[in-house]
Amino acid sequence: MNFARSNQCTALARWCGSSSKLRTSALSVASRSRSNCLKNCRRTYGTTRPVSSAGRADALGAPRETSELPTKLEQIIRESIMTTGPISMATYMQMCLSHPTHGYYMNPDNAILGTRGDFITSPEISQVFGELLGIWHLTRWEAAGRPPRIKIVELGPGRGTLMADMLRAMSQIRACTGAIKSVHLVETSAAMREHQRSLLTPAGKSLSWKYFWWDTVEDVIDHTKGDEYTMLVAHEFFDALPVHLLEKTAQGWHELRIGCTTEPTLKGMLEPKTDCLRLVREPHPSSQSTVLGASSRRFASLPIGARIEVSPTSYKIARQITRLLGSSRSLGGSGLIIDYGNDHVHGNSLRLMIIFQAFREHKIVDIFSRPGQSDLTANVDFAYVKEAMADGVTTHGPISQSAFLEGMGITVRVNSLMRNAKTEDRRTEIARAARRLVDSSGMGREYKVLGVTADPLQKHNGKAGDSAEQIWPFAQ
Ligand SMILES: C[S@@+](CC[C@H](N)C(=O)[O-])C[C@H]1O[C@@H](n2cnc3c(N)ncnc32)[C@H](O)[C@@H]1O
Repeated sequence: MNFARSNQCTALARWCGSSSKLRTSALSVASRSRSNCLKNCRRTYGTTRPVSSAGRADALGAPRETSELPTKLEQIIRESIMTTGPISMATYMQMCLSHPTHGYYMNPDNAILGTRGDFITSPEISQVFGELLGIWHLTRWEAAGRPPRIKIVELGPGRGTLMADMLRAMSQIRACTGAIKSVHLVETSAAMREHQRSLLTPAGKSLSWKYFWWDTVEDVIDHTKGDEYTMLVAHEFFDALPVHLLEKTAQGWHELRIGCTTEPTLKGMLEPKTDCLRLVREPHPSSQSTVLGASSRRFASLPIGARIEVSPTSYKIARQITRLLGSSRSLGGSGLIIDYGNDHVHGNSLRLMIIFQAFREHKIVDIFSRPGQSDLTANVDFAYVKEAMADGVTTHGPISQSAFLEGMGITVRVNSLMRNAKTEDRRTEIARAARRLVDSSGMGREYKVLGVTADPLQKHNGKAGDSAEQIWPFAQ
């Protein structure tokens, strides 16, 4: 057992042994009562049918199958396209998710997360998820020599459940509780901020932790001092960031945009509708598509016909995380990025709908279905995120969620919760929720965990930073 692992085990043992607080938490597994919902929350994938060339641009993808009137946002998008021409997939995603009044995450009428929401995320399934993430951060902080000041940062905190579970687990260690000075939530949605505020601030009050809400990671950098150790988590955040869709031809990289087309070849397919949001291929490479296509060396070796989604926003945020954790002024830090995705780029035509997943009411629907009323996500290219971080921090993995949680001792923690459960039903529920998190045919395999560590002092002393072998459970 190496140092990092023994460190982790010590923290885990202390924490598992301690916690009547954890057991009686208002956020207990039982109170989340989500097992029925889980049965319905199966991410299945649709397909698109390529359509032949049509006029100025090639029209691609299937027509939207719906008899409903267009949403307000769809009307806005159509008008925008009619006025200024096709929009990028990145703009479409941005509008669908973050339009100030009609965006999916901005509209308080949308029941987004949890048992009555459109989908359910790992922290909403079981408290164990957030607790184990908290324990990982704790072990990194201990390995860094327990820096005296900590700031905790979460990107896209949703209902605040993950942060609540992490904080509760970390606060079992008194030295850590005292070192935590502030909690920073990067969240654009006012509706989500309200959820987070009401869940998190009551517990933090007695501990005098300060809570801050920001629109961007840049705001956190601008408004915090460097002399702190940073713990950062981003769960199901990067997959909501806009991507551009590109296709390679002999001429170079062309952007696939979204048009509102009434081209003849499409009309026949759309009876009785006359127009519809569709993917169209730009006839020539643009300066933007050329720059994005050249933004990773990996893309150069892809064959003609390859499609890729490239997220410059993800790249920018990964750079900001690097500055936040790895700045020479800071005391270093640790980060966990967890998302659907892989260590490679996504995007060929066969996988189009696997990549873009519009979730409504626990079903995958067409990406043009009810814009603003559906979640729209793209699988994360973890290799791209790592490239953005390469010069300032050390990255670890990504590894599967099941490997991470099992390495962090999910079995030990779940057994402890089950021992303390009052009824058989509760025990069954705890076990079922944990199984769901590590299920090798579902969340356990599809979600990946990327670890990030930064130790600026080591770098300045000329010593090597953390290597992957030292960081449990990334090196097993
Ligand atoms: C899928 S939810 C994930 C919530 C939570 N992390 C969880 O796992 O339950 C995405 C969250 O990110 C927020 N979000 C989406 N895009 C964002 C952006 N560009 N900046 C900040 N927050 C964003 C949403 O409002 C929402 O809170």
